[in-house]
Amino acid sequence: MKTVQDYIRTIPDFPHEGIMFRDVTTLFADPRGFRLAIDQLLHPYVGQQIDKVVGLEARGFILGGAIAHQLSVGFVPIRKAGKLPGKVISQAYTLEYGEAVMEIHDDAVQPGEKILVVDDLLATGGTAAAGIQLLEQLGADILSCAFVIDLPELGGRKKLEAMGMDVSVLCEFDGA
Ligand code: PRP
Ligand code: MG
Repeated sequence: MKTVQDYIRTIPDFPHEGIMFRDVTTLFADPRGFRLAIDQLLHPYVGQQIDKVVGLEARGFILGGAIAHQLSVGFVPIRKAGKLPGKVISQAYTLEYGEAVMEIHDDAVQPGEKILVVDDLLATGGTAAAGIQLLEQLGADILSCAFVIDLPELGGRKKLEAMGMDVSVLCEFDGA
Protein backbone atom coordinates (compact mmCIF):
# COMPACT_ATOMS: atom_id res chain seq x y z
CA MET A 1 0.00 0.00 0.00
CA LYS A 2 1.25 3.48 -0.85
CA THR A 3 2.28 5.78 1.99
CA VAL A 4 1.76 9.55 2.11
CA GLN A 5 5.42 9.97 1.19
CA ASP A 6 4.92 7.92 -1.98
CA TYR A 7 2.41 10.48 -3.32
CA ILE A 8 4.82 13.44 -2.93
CA ARG A 9 6.72 14.39 -6.07
CA THR A 10 10.29 15.71 -5.93
CA ILE A 11 11.27 18.34 -8.48
CA PRO A 12 15.03 19.00 -8.60
CA ASP A 13 16.40 22.55 -8.92
CA PHE A 14 13.17 24.41 -8.04
CA PRO A 15 12.97 27.28 -7.25
CA HIS A 16 16.79 27.46 -7.35
CA GLU A 17 19.53 25.16 -8.54
CA GLY A 18 20.39 22.63 -5.86
CA ILE A 19 16.97 22.68 -4.14
CA MET A 20 14.96 19.45 -4.15
CA PHE A 21 11.37 20.77 -4.11
CA ARG A 22 8.92 18.47 -2.31
CA ASP A 23 5.70 18.95 -4.27
CA VAL A 24 2.49 18.12 -2.42
CA THR A 25 0.22 18.91 -5.39
CA THR A 26 0.49 15.26 -6.44
CA LEU A 27 -0.58 14.17 -2.95
CA PHE A 28 -3.53 16.60 -2.91
CA ALA A 29 -4.63 15.61 -6.43
CA ASP A 30 -4.93 11.91 -5.61
CA PRO A 31 -8.18 10.96 -3.84
CA ARG A 32 -6.54 8.16 -1.82
CA GLY A 33 -3.45 10.22 -1.07
CA PHE A 34 -5.39 13.28 0.09
CA ARG A 35 -7.69 11.27 2.36
CA LEU A 36 -4.74 9.30 3.76
CA ALA A 37 -2.92 12.56 4.60
CA ILE A 38 -5.97 14.12 6.28
CA ASP A 39 -6.75 10.92 8.25
CA GLN A 40 -3.15 10.57 9.42
CA LEU A 41 -2.83 14.26 10.36
CA LEU A 42 -5.97 13.92 12.49
CA HIS A 43 -5.18 10.56 14.03
CA PRO A 44 -3.18 11.78 17.09
CA TYR A 45 -6.01 14.13 18.13
CA VAL A 46 -9.01 11.83 17.97
CA GLY A 47 -10.94 12.22 21.21
CA GLN A 48 -9.14 15.44 22.17
CA GLN A 49 -10.87 18.79 22.36
CA ILE A 50 -9.96 21.09 19.46
CA ASP A 51 -11.82 24.40 19.13
CA LYS A 52 -10.31 25.65 15.86
CA VAL A 53 -7.91 24.65 13.12
CA VAL A 54 -5.46 27.34 12.00
CA GLY A 55 -3.88 27.00 8.55
CA LEU A 56 -0.78 28.83 7.31
CA GLU A 57 -1.01 30.41 3.86
CA ALA A 58 -1.09 28.95 1.31
CA ARG A 59 -0.80 25.19 1.35
CA GLY A 60 -1.85 24.99 5.00
CA PHE A 61 -5.29 26.25 3.87
CA ILE A 62 -5.90 23.15 1.75
CA LEU A 63 -5.07 20.76 4.60
CA GLY A 64 -6.52 22.88 7.37
CA GLY A 65 -9.86 23.35 5.62
CA ALA A 66 -10.28 19.60 5.14
CA ILE A 67 -9.27 18.86 8.75
CA ALA A 68 -11.61 21.51 10.19
CA HIS A 69 -14.48 20.11 8.12
CA GLN A 70 -13.75 16.58 9.32
CA LEU A 71 -13.71 17.78 12.95
CA SER A 72 -16.75 20.05 12.48
CA VAL A 73 -14.83 23.00 13.92
CA GLY A 74 -14.02 26.44 12.52
CA PHE A 75 -11.04 27.27 10.32
CA VAL A 76 -8.87 30.37 10.78
CA PRO A 77 -6.32 31.57 8.21
CA ILE A 78 -2.94 33.10 9.00
CA ARG A 79 -2.10 35.07 5.88
CA LYS A 80 0.77 36.91 4.29
CA ALA A 81 0.66 40.66 4.94
CA GLY A 82 -2.03 42.81 3.39
CA LYS A 83 -4.57 40.09 2.54
CA LEU A 84 -6.90 40.11 5.56
CA PRO A 85 -9.56 42.85 5.54
CA GLY A 86 -10.20 43.29 9.27
CA LYS A 87 -8.04 44.45 12.17
CA VAL A 88 -4.92 42.30 12.31
CA ILE A 89 -1.84 41.64 14.38
CA SER A 90 1.40 41.07 12.47
CA GLN A 91 4.58 39.09 12.93
CA ALA A 92 7.75 39.32 10.82
CA TYR A 93 9.76 36.21 10.05
CA THR A 94 12.94 35.39 8.16
CA LEU A 95 12.98 33.89 4.69
CA GLU A 96 15.95 32.57 2.74
CA TYR A 97 16.37 36.09 1.34
CA GLY A 98 14.97 38.87 3.51
CA GLU A 99 11.88 39.05 5.67
CA ALA A 100 8.15 38.47 5.32
CA VAL A 101 5.16 39.21 7.54
CA MET A 102 2.27 36.97 8.61
CA GLU A 103 -1.06 38.29 9.91
CA ILE A 104 -4.16 37.07 11.74
CA HIS A 105 -7.44 38.85 12.48
CA ASP A 106 -7.23 40.00 16.10
CA ASP A 107 -10.67 38.51 16.88
CA ALA A 108 -10.19 35.19 15.07
CA VAL A 109 -9.18 33.21 18.16
CA GLN A 110 -10.36 33.71 21.74
CA PRO A 111 -8.07 33.35 24.79
CA GLY A 112 -7.89 29.72 25.93
CA GLU A 113 -9.24 28.21 22.72
CA LYS A 114 -7.55 24.93 21.83
CA ILE A 115 -5.88 25.22 18.45
CA LEU A 116 -4.39 22.79 15.95
CA VAL A 117 -1.91 24.53 13.61
CA VAL A 118 -1.53 22.96 10.15
CA ASP A 119 0.88 23.43 7.25
CA ASP A 120 2.25 21.26 4.48
CA LEU A 121 5.94 21.53 5.24
CA LEU A 122 8.32 22.30 8.10
CA ALA A 123 11.70 23.57 6.88
CA THR A 124 13.47 26.21 9.02
CA GLY A 125 10.31 26.63 11.09
CA GLY A 126 10.23 30.39 10.52
CA THR A 127 6.73 30.42 9.06
CA ALA A 128 5.24 28.21 11.76
CA ALA A 129 7.06 30.10 14.53
CA ALA A 130 5.53 33.37 13.29
CA GLY A 131 2.09 31.74 13.32
CA ILE A 132 2.65 30.43 16.84
CA GLN A 133 3.75 33.87 18.07
CA LEU A 134 0.56 35.42 16.64
CA LEU A 135 -1.63 32.78 18.27
CA GLU A 136 0.16 33.17 21.60
CA GLN A 137 -0.41 36.95 21.45
CA LEU A 138 -4.14 36.20 21.20
CA GLY A 139 -3.94 33.87 24.21
CA ALA A 140 -4.57 30.67 22.26
CA ASP A 141 -3.82 27.27 23.76
CA ILE A 142 -1.89 25.53 20.96
CA LEU A 143 -2.52 21.81 21.25
CA SER A 144 -0.14 20.84 18.47
CA CYS A 145 1.40 21.77 15.12
CA ALA A 146 0.87 19.19 12.37
CA PHE A 147 2.77 18.98 9.07
CA VAL A 148 2.83 16.53 6.19
CA ILE A 149 6.60 16.92 5.62
CA ASP A 150 9.56 17.68 7.86
CA LEU A 151 13.00 18.50 6.47
CA PRO A 152 15.00 17.59 9.61
CA GLU A 153 18.28 19.03 8.30
CA LEU A 154 16.77 22.53 8.44
CA GLY A 155 15.96 22.32 12.14
CA GLY A 156 12.35 23.51 12.15
CA ARG A 157 11.09 20.77 14.42
CA LYS A 158 13.76 21.52 17.04
CA LYS A 159 12.94 25.22 16.82
CA LEU A 160 9.23 24.64 17.46
CA GLU A 161 9.90 22.13 20.23
CA ALA A 162 12.21 24.68 21.88
CA MET A 163 9.17 27.00 21.89
CA GLY A 164 7.33 24.33 23.89
CA MET A 165 5.27 23.05 20.98
CA ASP A 166 4.08 19.52 20.35
CA VAL A 167 4.95 18.73 16.72
CA SER A 168 3.67 15.90 14.54
CA VAL A 169 4.82 15.09 11.01
CA LEU A 170 3.79 12.39 8.54
CA CYS A 171 7.13 11.97 6.75
CA GLU A 172 10.67 13.26 6.52
CA PHE A 173 12.94 13.97 3.56
CA ASP A 174 16.71 14.28 3.74
CA GLY A 175 18.73 16.32 1.31
CA ALA A 176 16.73 19.50 1.59
C1 PRP B 1 6.56 26.97 2.30
C2 PRP B 1 5.83 25.84 2.99
C3 PRP B 1 5.79 26.29 4.43
C4 PRP B 1 7.09 27.08 4.58
C5 PRP B 1 8.11 26.27 5.32
O1 PRP B 1 5.65 28.02 2.08
O2 PRP B 1 4.50 25.71 2.45
O3 PRP B 1 4.67 27.14 4.69
O4 PRP B 1 7.56 27.36 3.25
O5 PRP B 1 9.33 26.97 5.41
P1 PRP B 1 9.97 27.39 6.79
O6 PRP B 1 9.73 26.28 7.77
O7 PRP B 1 11.42 27.55 6.46
O8 PRP B 1 9.34 28.68 7.21
P2 PRP B 1 5.95 29.25 1.16
O9 PRP B 1 6.50 30.37 2.00
O10 PRP B 1 6.82 28.80 0.01
O11 PRP B 1 4.56 29.74 0.63
P3 PRP B 1 3.19 29.07 0.14
O12 PRP B 1 2.76 27.99 1.11
O13 PRP B 1 2.28 30.25 0.16
O14 PRP B 1 3.42 28.52 -1.24
MG1 MG C 1 3.62 27.60 2.91
